[in-house]
Amino acid sequence: TMSSELDIQRTFEFVKDLTLKAGEVFKCGFEGEKVVTVKDEWDLVTDYDKKIEDFLINTLREKFPEHLFIGEEGTAGSSDQIELTDEPTWIIDPIDGTINYVNGLPITCISIGLTVCKEPVIGIIYNPITSELYSAIKGQGAFLNGKPLKSSKTTELKKALIEIEMFSIRFPSKDRDLRAGRLDAVTHAARGVRFMGSAALALAFIARGALDCIYMEMLKPWDIAAGVLLIREAGGTVVDAKEKEFNIMRPNIIGGVTCELVMEIKKLIIDTDLKIMRKRLKRT
Ligand code: IPD
Ligand code: CA
Ligand code: CA
Ligand code: CA
Repeated sequence: TMSSELDIQRTFEFVKDLTLKAGEVFKCGFEGEKVVTVKDEWDLVTDYDKKIEDFLINTLREKFPEHLFIGEEGTAGSSDQIELTDEPTWIIDPIDGTINYVNGLPITCISIGLTVCKEPVIGIIYNPITSELYSAIKGQGAFLNGKPLKSSKTTELKKALIEIEMFSIRFPSKDRDLRAGRLDAVTHAARGVRFMGSAALALAFIARGALDCIYMEMLKPWDIAAGVLLIREAGGTVVDAKEKEFNIMRPNIIGGVTCELVMEIKKLIIDTDLKIMRKRLKRT
């Protein structure tokens, strides 16, 4: 198969060096002038998103001509790839947390994942502003700037610090009551709730043990491809928020430092949804 042909260790070293180089471009845009375009009122894009994605995909494609690419901005021919296949596939978010990036809030990063046979095998999350590079190779653990990471051991929601990302929370939706209900339920059950605005970095913080759990709705594969591997390699768990099977292409996820914590939130979300659905029925 393709996976045995691919030297994971050397591929990792290559992409790590490439990410550090891309980080220089990232920093330039963070500190300097940039062109900001409004995709949606809640989704900005800058010329640096495209510049970084182009640089990453063009360089990787040159090195690995038969690999496939999925990138948020769809530059460098990455958008043709919608279905995940068994082929080695790079899943790239050139800037995660673009709104933070534009505001000069240093909670933003580059996220790069590689899947083989649909499984993440390499994950890199790099915040060039704080010079923190999180990395994981399947079966080899998770690291921050080369030092091994272990997620924390929190098992109870009431003692947990939770991070929430709901994609385009302002997006007009008939499920506004469901979202509000889930938010309310988690906020009341947890020790604390944060909204960081960079899904990828939040996942890295779970691997680091700085957050205990994340709840993320309607995200995209490039937000989570690298982070999921980081959490698993640090000893944590990631599941689909409702379904049995976790789907990397449709991330509605709960990720946490322990299985107990993840399952407690999953149950809370499912129970909350049921309650709200019942309320809806009563109203009609
Ligand atoms: C966004 C961030 C944010 C999440 C959004 C994403 P972007 O990615 O990860 O935290 O809540 O759903 O779209 O657009 O900044 O790369
Ligand atoms: Ca975006
Ligand atoms: Ca993103
Ligand atoms: Ca992005």
